[in-house]
Amino acid sequence: MISLHNKRLLLGVSGSIAAYKAAEVVRRFKDAGAEVRVVLTAGGAEFVTPLTFQALSGNPVHSELLDTEAEAAMGHIQLARWADAVIIAPASANCIARLAQGRADDLLSAICLATEAPVAIAPAMNQQMWVKPSTQDNLRQLTQHGVLQFGPAVGEQACGETGPGRMLEAGQIAQCTADMFETGVLAGRSVLITAGPTQEAIDPVRYLSNHSSGKMGYAVAQAAAEAGARVTLISGPTALPIPPRVNRIDVSSAQQMYEAVMQQINDNDIFIAAAAVADYRPAREARQKIKKSKDILTLELQPNPDILAEVAALTDAPICVGFAAETENLERHAREKLQRKKLDMIAANAVGEGRGFGTDDNSLLVLTLDSMQTLSRASKSSLGRQLVRMIAELFDRKRSSAH
Ligand code: C5P
Repeated sequence: MISLHNKRLLLGVSGSIAAYKAAEVVRRFKDAGAEVRVVLTAGGAEFVTPLTFQALSGNPVHSELLDTEAEAAMGHIQLARWADAVIIAPASANCIARLAQGRADDLLSAICLATEAPVAIAPAMNQQMWVKPSTQDNLRQLTQHGVLQFGPAVGEQACGETGPGRMLEAGQIAQCTADMFETGVLAGRSVLITAGPTQEAIDPVRYLSNHSSGKMGYAVAQAAAEAGARVTLISGPTALPIPPRVNRIDVSSAQQMYEAVMQQINDNDIFIAAAAVADYRPAREARQKIKKSKDILTLELQPNPDILAEVAALTDAPICVGFAAETENLERHAREKLQRKKLDMIAANAVGEGRGFGTDDNSLLVLTLDSMQTLSRASKSSLGRQLVRMIAELFDRKRSSAH
């Protein structure tokens, strides 16, 4: 079964008779679990109405670049940032030529220039247009710039001719799109990840916790699974679904998370601690619900184990990656944690005032002992994939220097 779980896909529809098949592409993307936004070019709108795509995607259709109202709702830069991938299906000969030239005079081409997400085209055109040297030159240029190409197929065409230039079927486009996310960079590796908040019981009905949603850790878990790793996710209480191919172990308190991690850690090559573990727990959990009174109530707290620091201190420790959520002095605090906890890598993000916790977007500052890289604001799933790629590189570097 094709999985595009949690993916934000921007489908560009340009002017080709195959545009009618783009409606089915939206369906397939949605069925596979993606969120879809459609950008319709002026040519595309000649073949299919925006209403069709709006009804199927459940989102407004975008088509204007220089329209103040449209830009205020979600402008080209926001759409470029929003997307985990841009798929253009159908990509007409004209659309391909415009992309190859780096034009930015309509919404779709401007998004393709502005996005850091991967871009793929599913060409659709008459076979004579397909074989023309100018089209083939444009395609070569796009390939050199990293644009992926799905198809085209060879077969019967709307114009009555038979040959290359037929757009792939919707199911094939959905499959190719899912394959884009499967990088294989962690094939054969085992990764243990913690995510979410912990809950520290005060009495049978109350607990201490924090605002962590678990989204970042879950995004990393999904990206690691897509990169081919065997992934175990030890999760505090969250409302999130289990990402495909991830083995989740549910825990509630920091102590339970610690015990689950220690039980699992031996078999793992990489440990990623994305959980927001409570630093303290009530020294005693009251057996019965604490009754209200007019007196001041004092809670005595005792420290929880630092799961990440303990894993990093193990002999034969796996590669250890931590997170640092900070409200100030991001780099200084993150570097201090990297050194004190003896980590291989730390990903720091600013929290507070609507940033970090619970949001879908984030930015990260990623530090190792000898490098620093900023991952600019993007969806947590995109950041998860970028981070997994960096962890895989670090793993390969460490392994080759150990031999
Ligand atoms: O020290 P601080 O809590 O800021 O460190 C954050 C990092 O340490 C995160 O990667 C978090 O998952 C991990 N951590 C842990 N156990 C704790 C506290 C933090 O694994 N008790």
